[in-house]
Amino acid sequence: GQGPGQLPAERTAPGDSDLVRAARGLPVARTPVWFMRQAGRSLPEYRALRAGTAMLAACQDPDLVTEITLQPVRRHGVDAAILFSDIVLPLVVAGVDVEIKPGVGPVIAEPVRSVADVDALPPLEPDRLAFLETAVRQLVSELGPTPLIGFAGAPFTLATYLIEGGPSKEHARTKAFMYAEPAAWARLLEHLSVSAAVFLRAQVDAGASAVQLFDSWAGVLSAADYAERVLPYSRAVFDGLGDRDVPRTHFGVGTGELLALIGDAGADMVGVDWRVPLDEAARRVGPGYSLQGNLDPAVLLADRETIDREVRRIVQQGRAARGHVFNLGHGVLPDTDPGALTHVVELVHELTTR
Ligand code: CP3
Repeated sequence: GQGPGQLPAERTAPGDSDLVRAARGLPVARTPVWFMRQAGRSLPEYRALRAGTAMLAACQDPDLVTEITLQPVRRHGVDAAILFSDIVLPLVVAGVDVEIKPGVGPVIAEPVRSVADVDALPPLEPDRLAFLETAVRQLVSELGPTPLIGFAGAPFTLATYLIEGGPSKEHARTKAFMYAEPAAWARLLEHLSVSAAVFLRAQVDAGASAVQLFDSWAGVLSAADYAERVLPYSRAVFDGLGDRDVPRTHFGVGTGELLALIGDAGADMVGVDWRVPLDEAARRVGPGYSLQGNLDPAVLLADRETIDREVRRIVQQGRAARGHVFNLGHGVLPDTDPGALTHVVELVHELTTR
């Protein structure tokens, strides 16, 4: 028989991992934990491997992708790997002129400003994703029981980069385009939903065990605009997965007023930033969803006592949801001490081992 706290022998497949089970609201051995942007500049081994290779070139090199994706799994013992890639990669592969400027973010050479610009966007051809399938296959074989999360950028967040030409705070041009050119807006978001679905299907068909849709900047919209002008296209991305049996996480920043809609777009699990406590988030999304989050990444820059207090609070509040995956409320900040991340993994496991 099995003693308490022991993993049942059959739970060695990534599709039956604690991450996948928590996302589906099934019982887990302990609360799974991973970190958005866990592969990246907080790790010296990442900076060493990336030296001399541009971000978007690194994302298209299967061996680099494999190694960088594995680094935080080895170092921190997180319960999931997330593919090392970027939300703009489908645009890059399709042939859009995009660069990721260090310390800035994605910059688009020719921003989308008209109906003609929308119509000129090249489609993402699935046969150009061979490098991605190679990387995912290599990763799945290296990872064994640890699930690999595939991801894509949601149509709205990608549209902000395409229209603004780069990162922005207010997304004023994006909103102006959305209001003034509703037909072109619909065509743009439709285009981006198709390429996101192609990108996600490639990852799942090569062996990813879960997916996450990043709509990082959706929180700048009112619930009414989100529901009418954005949600249908994010739903189309999830629908594009068809009957592929992987749990779906839907994440955005500043989405406190949108949480029910974010779930309703077709998610099994809703990502929550640090602004709304998880017990309140559970009330807002309703009973049919698991929650992922929601430690403020800045807390990791504080002292251990503060970190521990916040982790305990979040673990406790997370019990209000049908399932909880511990994560940050947004990505790891580059100057985070990697030791703090390892410590959080250990603490969450210690606090939640059944
Ligand atoms: O989470 C992971 O570890 C997986 C890899 C991943 C990256 N980007 C790698 C990356 C993921 C999931 C993303 C998603 C992404 N990219 C989002 C959504 C999540 C979020 O943070 O809101 C967004 C908005 C982007 C666009 C983007 N790409 C930004 C804003 C930046 C940061 C620019 C900077 O230098 O500060 C990037 C670049 C990027 N993507 C880096 C990494 C590791 C840094 C590049 C480097 O190391 O030089």
